[in-house]
Amino acid sequence: MERNRIKLEFLVHDLKVPLAVIEAGLLSLLQKADKYGPLTEKQIKVLERALRNTIVTRTLVSDALELGRSSAGIINKNNFSAARFIAETLIEVFDLTDQALADEIREQRSLSDLKNVLARRGIFLEIPEELWNGEICLDESKVRQIFRNLLNNALKYRKSRVALNVAARDRHFCLSVSDDGEGIPSSYHRKIFECYFQMDMQTDHCVRGHGLGLAGVQVLLEDMGGELALESDMGKGATFTVKIPL
Ligand SMILES: Nc1ncnc2c1ncn2[C@@H]1O[C@H](COP(=O)(O)OP(=O)(O)OP(=O)(O)O)[C@@H](O)[C@H]1O
Ligand SMILES: [Mg+2]
Repeated sequence: MERNRIKLEFLVHDLKVPLAVIEAGLLSLLQKADKYGPLTEKQIKVLERALRNTIVTRTLVSDALELGRSSAGIINKNNFSAARFIAETLIEVFDLTDQALADEIREQRSLSDLKNVLARRGIFLEIPEELWNGEICLDESKVRQIFRNLLNNALKYRKSRVALNVAARDRHFCLSVSDDGEGIPSSYHRKIFECYFQMDMQTDHCVRGHGLGLAGVQVLLEDMGGELALESDMGKGATFTVKIPL
């Protein structure tokens, strides 16, 4: 790794500690009223927003480090529970956008309850019961990052529906994320995987992205020997399907 890259990564790395201190401080104020004194509704709102954004920043920092780790070719395979992986990734995503849903997901114990909670918000999860109760052996944080980015895109661009299909087939882990949004014309199917590329759309999304998500997904997939297929056209929504050898 060249010296400048190391310096940059070291800097990003060292952001973790002050961020953790900020997060812990905000959490204490929110959760330990007996120790720090009661809060007004307005103070709680401000602190909660600060906390949410600290969590966003923490996620960004770990994403940046994960990408660095990935380009150094480091893979950490481990066995992890499919159910926990899916629930935790969903919570991570909705903690930033829909805290009520994140809380509801946290409370669900069975697959069918989780499906129902999600379906009420237009998110349709399909996964065989056997896989839900089983384990997956892959680099969990990489797979999680891939899932998170595809899901964030689908939620950002959907009209009303998102479909998630998770399966283990022919010794591959398969994950597909579909939405019913404007879709992507085939002339852009390559370009959207380039760093910093974003299609010019007249969207009113207040949180603009960086055009880095899909480029990152691609790098992580290459590291794991996986592949990605995109099915989409203008006005027809988009389906991103990921296949990773187990
Ligand atoms: N599900 C989707 N439907 C329609 N367009 C999409 C979808 N996913 C990605 N795109 C297009 O591809 C571009 C690149 O996506 P990518 O995830 O790399 O960046 P981003 O979402 O804009 O920003 P971020 O870096 O926060 O992920 C998007 O800006 C958008 O134009
Ligand atoms: Mg994105």
